[in-house]
Amino acid sequence: MGVHIFFPSTNESRSIHDDPKTQSLFTLFLFILVILNNIIAEARRSSRGGFHGTKLFVFGDSYVDTGNFLRSGSYKPPNGITFPGKPAGRFSDGRVLTDYIASFLGIRTPVAYRYRNYVEKSKLQHGMNYAQGGTGIFNSILTNGPNLTTQINSFQKLVQLNVYTKHDLRSSVALVNVGGNDYATFLQTNGNLKDVGAFSSGLVNQLCLDLKGIEGMGVRKIAITLMMPMGCAPQQSVNTSYTKCAELPNVVARNHNQQLLHCLANLKQSSVFLTLDLYNTFNSVISSMARKRAKNPRLMNPLEPCVRVEVEKEGKHKYKVCEKPEASFFWDQAHPSQNGWHSVYSQLQSSLHQLLQN
Ligand SMILES: *[C@@H]1O[C@H](CO)[C@@H](O)[C@H](O)[C@H]1NC(C)=O
Ligand SMILES: *[C@@H]1O[C@H](CO)[C@@H](O)[C@H](O)[C@H]1NC(C)=O
Repeated sequence: MGVHIFFPSTNESRSIHDDPKTQSLFTLFLFILVILNNIIAEARRSSRGGFHGTKLFVFGDSYVDTGNFLRSGSYKPPNGITFPGKPAGRFSDGRVLTDYIASFLGIRTPVAYRYRNYVEKSKLQHGMNYAQGGTGIFNSILTNGPNLTTQINSFQKLVQLNVYTKHDLRSSVALVNVGGNDYATFLQTNGNLKDVGAFSSGLVNQLCLDLKGIEGMGVRKIAITLMMPMGCAPQQSVNTSYTKCAELPNVVARNHNQQLLHCLANLKQSSVFLTLDLYNTFNSVISSMARKRAKNPRLMNPLEPCVRVEVEKEGKHKYKVCEKPEASFFWDQAHPSQNGWHSVYSQLQSSLHQLLQN
């Protein structure tokens, strides 16, 4: 909120400017207002936990990617129609988890790694986003984009080049969301989720090593998401015409989360590892929307995607967008809409406060 000064276009206002003494007093008054306004704005910024100079470093997949996956759907319509108004690299109609976490920290969304050499240096001050859609902890069948380890190596290189200093890292936050594409890869190559046990253990082990690697670089606060209920994604619930979440993928997600919590508990950690429970927050938001819809059937089904691809041939992409993206939970087959992310973020806020403590 700025200070608004109105200049009435009446004769009285002109007469103020005609008198040199009144005019200089008026200028002084304006000057003081501007200074006051700056002081208030500054106080507001630092009252957000005194988080001046915090940087956010993001790793993982499309749930947190804000522009690294060129030539993907994230750069094609209808993605981005709500924010920023055109396709700009997010797998959503608008903001994703990264944007909300950055705003919680009182900083801008960090620049996407892809653009590090094309933006002004000052744009690097909020951190960097290494996440890329389609990627996983292991290499993914969906893309040859960088896996989690490779993303962390890219981060390490910039630290070696002193783009970010050890001092920067100590006051930084890392955000990691990854794993969904590993299970998608497993499904496509092995077929049966029932045999996922050994794969899951290896996956969580590698994830834990990678988290340890981020900590080893000196980042003191690491937020890691727990897997969302994969069976609730429209690509799974489509089997029941979007009436129910599929049970098996949800069991796999719960097991994954349990193993991850177990491994985090056993890390000899000197940093804060904060888990953001997407499993329970997704479920809670979805059930709450479903309850409201039971009373008012005109509301949108939270298990139904807002975007439906109608035909896809010769690279042509025809789609239909629901009437009110702002009333949806899922944007497409696999990704929440901005409204979905905003609702999830609202529920995560109480956990996020731990990131503000020193
Ligand atoms: C990550 O990708 C690199 C390059 O493809 C590969 O050498 C490495 O083994 C991968 N790491 C994991 C954990 O899969
Ligand atoms: C959905 O249906 C397909 C085709 O019938 C089947 O292969 C798949 O296993 C089903 N998925 C779930 C989660 O039930």
